[in-house]
Amino acid sequence: MAEVINIEAAASKAEKYRQLLPQLEALIGGETDITANLANIAAALKETFGWWWVGFYLVKEGELVLGPFQGPVACTRIRKGKGVCGTAWEQRKSILVPDVNAFPGHIACSSLSVAEIVVPVFTTSDEVLGVLDVDSERYDALDATDVEGLEQVGKLVTRIIS
Ligand code: SME
Repeated sequence: MAEVINIEAAASKAEKYRQLLPQLEALIGGETDITANLANIAAALKETFGWWWVGFYLVKEGELVLGPFQGPVACTRIRKGKGVCGTAWEQRKSILVPDVNAFPGHIACSSLSVAEIVVPVFTTSDEVLGVLDVDSERYDALDATDVEGLEQVGKLVTRIIS
């Protein structure tokens, strides 16, 4: 297939997720390499939503280690329970942080990032494979629609990659 993502620019955010998910599935469905697939997912999300930073941290030897991402350079390792990423891993649930100043222990990889969503991604045996992290430089950019859409992306990763 052609590696192109087509999303209607004027569509609502929920509609953009509806258009994106089947295209992501087509994009990664024929490839088994995890790095290639996570890299394309990060690129497709960045292209669709224009966020400041989007990418994956993967559980490796008891820590989260930076994986494929789009955006400025970021912290490479995060311990369990630390920051938004480590907390989402520990609690095994998505965390929406509309204002990072209000989240004690938030890890500021970039001072320009002010809002964040972290979604845990599971293996088929229900272990945490890693987390999908989205950061915005706008306080009003991330909401429950994104949590729902990103959880769908996480489920796609579980189904196809792990
Ligand atoms: N802010 C995150 C760290 C990762 S970066 O934002 C890319 C956290 O508190 O876990």
